[in-house]
Amino acid sequence: MANPAQIVIFGASGDLTARKLIPALLGNVAVGALSPDAVQVIGVSRSARTSEQWREDLAAWVPVELAEAWPSFVPCLHYVTADASVPEQLERLHQELDRLAEPMGGESKVGRLFYLALAPELFGPVVGCLAGRGMTECPVDAADGWRRVVIEKPFGVDLPSAQALNRELLRWLREEQIYRIDHYLGKETVQNLLTLRFQNAIFEPLWNRNHVESVEISVLETVAMEGRRGAYYDGAGALRDMVQNHLMQILALVAMEPPGSLSAAAVRGEKIKVVGSLRRFTPKEVATHVVRGQYVAGPSRDQAYRQEIGVAPRSRTETYVAARVLVDNWRWSGVPFLLRTGKALHRASTEVLLRFRTPPVDLLNGPVSPDVCRLRPNTLRILIQPEEGVRLSFLVKEPGAGMRMRSSELGFDYGDLGSDRTPPAYQRLLLDAIEGNATLFIHKDEVEGSWAFADAIRAGWEEADPPVHRYPAGSHGPEAADALWHGCEGGWS
Ligand SMILES: NC(=O)c1ccc[n+]([C@@H]2O[C@H](COP(=O)([O-])OP(=O)(O)OC[C@H]3O[C@@H](n4cnc5c(N)ncnc54)[C@H](OP(=O)(O)O)[C@@H]3O)[C@@H](O)[C@H]2O)c1
Repeated sequence: MANPAQIVIFGASGDLTARKLIPALLGNVAVGALSPDAVQVIGVSRSARTSEQWREDLAAWVPVELAEAWPSFVPCLHYVTADASVPEQLERLHQELDRLAEPMGGESKVGRLFYLALAPELFGPVVGCLAGRGMTECPVDAADGWRRVVIEKPFGVDLPSAQALNRELLRWLREEQIYRIDHYLGKETVQNLLTLRFQNAIFEPLWNRNHVESVEISVLETVAMEGRRGAYYDGAGALRDMVQNHLMQILALVAMEPPGSLSAAAVRGEKIKVVGSLRRFTPKEVATHVVRGQYVAGPSRDQAYRQEIGVAPRSRTETYVAARVLVDNWRWSGVPFLLRTGKALHRASTEVLLRFRTPPVDLLNGPVSPDVCRLRPNTLRILIQPEEGVRLSFLVKEPGAGMRMRSSELGFDYGDLGSDRTPPAYQRLLLDAIEGNATLFIHKDEVEGSWAFADAIRAGWEEADPPVHRYPAGSHGPEAADALWHGCEGGWS
């Protein structure tokens, strides 16, 4: 059970708070990880409402499976009307926080987590205002009375803006007070990558260029620009929205060296090294290693991306990116990491697929049927969502005369563990932030390294202006992406 804490959510009337943050905190209360006696949630936004009204607004979003825990959580919720970028209004909030902290032991005993569920341009100014009023001050490694800040995505739009935001935050906070969130790291199945790799002796010896032929990382979405998403997305695109953060995080966990421990410093230190080893493409390499695409009307959607609300009619924003990424270190030199992500695709699926090399000798000796030739004997498939599990494939002999082979599979499904409900990503991450465990949050150097990688691709696009390949909504994405497999066996799974 965590020490007494106040979670101050800036952006209390927003979408993220209602859909993710409050259900995540409630989920922690429901499983006993947070005690309603030792936690207060103080929502802050500019629109005037009472605590009672805020509670009523949030009640509509409570997931059915958490309804039973809701009544015990309601008294923990308080609302303060304030503009977080106006110092005088934060002073009122400060006084209210101190008043509320009294029954939990007073402000010096109560930890405070400031969650910035705000538009990104407010991240720096709001932290400046909080710090200006002394609200973020706390001793190094404080067990009581700690002060931490959670920063939502997007963390910058390129390397210079991410560096500027880091500089701004570090004017006021120490790095260990900053929790940059990427909700992908809160997914059980993403964390399971660490267990699979480092708590089992059988995979690690094979996890390198000697045995792995290619690594495929796919984050495929069927959703397009439903709702009001188009206006934001058109200024971002798939490279910024997905590759720089979520795909980079998965890649780092797949490619990292074994950490000395699961501490934040050890795990993040190894991930930073991976990001630092990524080949920064020259504009010429971008043309041969990256494919971008944009959906047009197709089987799953009547309208093209350019017809979506909020999207420019002549937009060249990519809704699909595939890349052949190279990790230039001893473990991975020469092994292509094939990444792809896109909107309006034929299926929604996030997975990692390692293809292992073929055996050095073909005992069948002689002509083999084309079917068998196409089989890659060994793959390890790590299913992240919506399926959650692991599949290891290998060849077996078909019963009967001769030596015909077929592919078979050993499988594990998370559902088989009997857990009623995999905790949502935000539930785990919020608890970690309250408990001061930053392992699953992004370090400054990691975020800057991944922007440097993404910026090199964007620079290549700007310089060479390669085509934005059209693909029908509901398809597998542009066929041009198949060319990224040159020199490797197989293709997109
Ligand atoms: N929604 C998601 O699923 C999601 C997912 C990942 C990341 N994020 C990130 O999370 C952040 C919030 O997203 P959202 O979708 O929740 O946005 P949103 O629905 O537009 O909510 C923004 C909130 O900020 C409040 N606000 C604006 N200016 C303020 C100020 N000066 N002081 C205090 N409160 C202020 C707004 O309320 P008032 O107008 O009443 O002040 C509102 O509650 C963004 O950075 C977004 O990129 C969101």
